[in-house]
Amino acid sequence: MAEFQKVAAVSEVPDPGKTLVEVDGEMVAVFHVAGQWYALDDVCTHDGGPLADGELRNHTIACPRHGAKFDIRTGAALTMPAVRPTRSHEVKVEDGGVWIRLRSAAGGAGPADHAAPAAGAAAPGTVPAAAATAPAAAGLESAALQPAAPPADSLASQPLCEDVVREVLKEVKDPELFVNIVDLGLIYGVTLSPAADAPGRQHVAIDMTMTSPACPAGPQLIGDTKRVLGARTDVSAVEVRIVMDPPWTPDRMTESARDQLGIF
Ligand code: FES
Repeated sequence: MAEFQKVAAVSEVPDPGKTLVEVDGEMVAVFHVAGQWYALDDVCTHDGGPLADGELRNHTIACPRHGAKFDIRTGAALTMPAVRPTRSHEVKVEDGGVWIRLRSAAGGAGPADHAAPAAGAAAPGTVPAAAATAPAAAGLESAALQPAAPPADSLASQPLCEDVVREVLKEVKDPELFVNIVDLGLIYGVTLSPAADAPGRQHVAIDMTMTSPACPAGPQLIGDTKRVLGARTDVSAVEVRIVMDPPWTPDRMTESARDQLGIF
């Protein structure tokens, strides 16, 4: 098991405040709030953003890159686009110093105050690791249990309209979140127009947004959208237009998507 290491003097970090330290070659964000100390990996689980550079409000740190929020007490992801917890570490205060012991996996660590318990003892307010990881795990499980989209065959026989397009697009799922792009609220618009060069077929234009401007899944989502719609015999061409205004926000998700992600 890793040993506690002194990373800072108590007097170096205001309350509320935060600092960035290095422990065994890993960057750790240390937080001091209401007399308590917390430590998280300096890594946002959405796309690696540096949490120590984010805005600290009470017990929440916001990733400076795309705004995902984490609970500094447990590492739990509180808002999209992050859905997995970041790793939290044990902290104690001793001899005027702040000491950290790295944990091996994402989980909840209790706070350390100025009368911290001895190393290894459970601190007041400790949150079980299982609680910190539950939302993401629940999200994955419920994603697997989500109702299947209507069979492609039944949709294929229906005349093309916006509702059918949206149903077809439920086949396209975000590869990180395992939720379809319609329920995520990524489809801003569907425009159908008769194809001039293909009688009886239609040109489909999709206005799509991303959960963040640098979403790594973007190319895949665009490609899958063109693939599932382009497979229909009544579609002549598929155009995907990326729209970032208005920006995507979690309240665009359907109740189904929230359930799948364990967001309440
Ligand atoms: S990297 Fe943190 S929200 Fe995207």
